[in-house]
Amino acid sequence: MNMLLDGSSFPSHAELNKERKVLGRKNKEIKRGKHFYANHSSFSQTNTDLPEDFCNQVLCGDSEDLLKTLPDNCIDLVFTSPPYNFGLDYEGGEDSENWPLYFEKLFRILDECARVLKHGGRLIVNVQPLFSDYIPSHHIISRHMLDSGMIWKGEILWEKNNYNCKYRMGKLEKSIQSISQIHLGIYRDLLQGVAQNRWPEF
Ligand SMILES: C[S@@+](CC[C@H](N)C(=O)[O-])C[C@H]1O[C@@H](n2cnc3c(N)ncnc32)[C@H](O)[C@@H]1O
Repeated sequence: MNMLLDGSSFPSHAELNKERKVLGRKNKEIKRGKHFYANHSSFSQTNTDLPEDFCNQVLCGDSEDLLKTLPDNCIDLVFTSPPYNFGLDYEGGEDSENWPLYFEKLFRILDECARVLKHGGRLIVNVQPLFSDYIPSHHIISRHMLDSGMIWKGEILWEKNNYNCKYRMGKLEKSIQSISQIHLGIYRDLLQGVAQNRWPEF
C-alpha cells in the first residue's frame, strides 16, 4: 500500500500486478471477433494527398459545405468541438435546434469527416451531454460512428471543476447522493476518439 498525506492509501504497482489476469488473450479476442462492428466498413484504403489549395489555410464557413470540397482519404486527424445544442448564443445560430434535426445535421458533418479521413485516420469529438434534456450526446454520436464502421478508440473525461447548480443541486441533488448516479456530478465534456478502419496494432 502507498500512503497519502491525509492518511488514505492506494494500492502499489506491485499489488495491482497481482490482479486476476486474462489467460489466452489472443485466442479470446479471435473468438469474440475484435472490431466486429467495423467488418462491414466500406472505407477506401487508398489515401490521397491534401490538394495544395487547402494546405496551411484557415477556411471559414459551414463545415458541411467546406468538407464536401475535399477529396476522400486526405486528412490524418479531425478534432472537432461541435455545438452542444444547449441554447448558447453563437454567431450565426442560437444553438437550440430540435434534437432530431440537430443530430441529422451533426451526423451529415461527421460522415463527411469520416469520408475525408485517411485509412487509419482519427476523429476526435469534444461534446457534452445535456442532462436536463436527458440527452446522452456522447453515446448517440459514438453509436452513429460505430454504425458507419469506425473503430471506437476511447474517451477522455474532462474534469472542469466548474459545475453549475443544474448539475449539483435542485432536481438532481438527491440522485447525485446515490452511488449509482455519482458520475453525474463529475463529468462534463467528453473527448471521444474513433478511427477510420483498422489502426495498425501497437
Ligand atoms: C462548442 S463551440 C466550439 C468553439 C471552438 N472550440 C472555439 O474555441 O471557438 C461550437 C462552434 O461551432 C460553430 N458552428 C456551429 N455550426 C457550425 C457549422 N455548421 N459549421 C461550422 N461551425 C459551426 C459555432 O458557431 C461555435 O463557434
